[in-house]
Amino acid sequence: MTDEHRWRAAEITVSDSRRGIDADDRSGDVIVARFALLPSDIVARESVPDDIESIRAAVRRCAEHADVLILTGGTGLGPRDVTPQALVSMFDYEIPGMAEVMRHAGMTSTPHAMLSRQVVGVMTKCLVMTLPGSPTAVAECLDAVWPALPHALTLISGDTRHLEQP
Ligand code: MTE
Repeated sequence: MTDEHRWRAAEITVSDSRRGIDADDRSGDVIVARFALLPSDIVARESVPDDIESIRAAVRRCAEHADVLILTGGTGLGPRDVTPQALVSMFDYEIPGMAEVMRHAGMTSTPHAMLSRQVVGVMTKCLVMTLPGSPTAVAECLDAVWPALPHALTLISGDTRHLEQP
């Protein structure tokens, strides 16, 4: 895998009528703007309601064609917040450290960061991250995990040849 390798990236906005559509759009746009830095090609963008089966169907569609999939929204404590429980049983394995570091970093901005139940895991060799719904939270969470993201994607892909010592 060379430095020029481009990852396949996807974004899903999970939203319902509680937030304005502008805020939802902006969160997805923050994710897509960040993908450009990997570098990557956007292979899918979707918007789904806070509904477990709708979320799972969108995740199946996107993860099949992507190396990294980031969802925004629905990680909180309300009765309509179902993103984590939709995702966690779909994972081949979780990456708790990435979720922990995002919550920890968010605490420097707001104690409400501890209220996000965001989860991170891998399914069918796709790294799947769930982020809170606000654009600010999305940016803060991505800042926290970004330094480890390329290495994580390389390990998940299984193509670690360039990591081997000569
Ligand atoms: N994390 C960071 N870094 N920054 C934030 O502003 N907001 C919190 C939290 N995580 C926040 C954050 C708030 S107010 C909530 S309610 C939860 O994420 C869940 O958000 P969600 O229901 O939109 O997913």
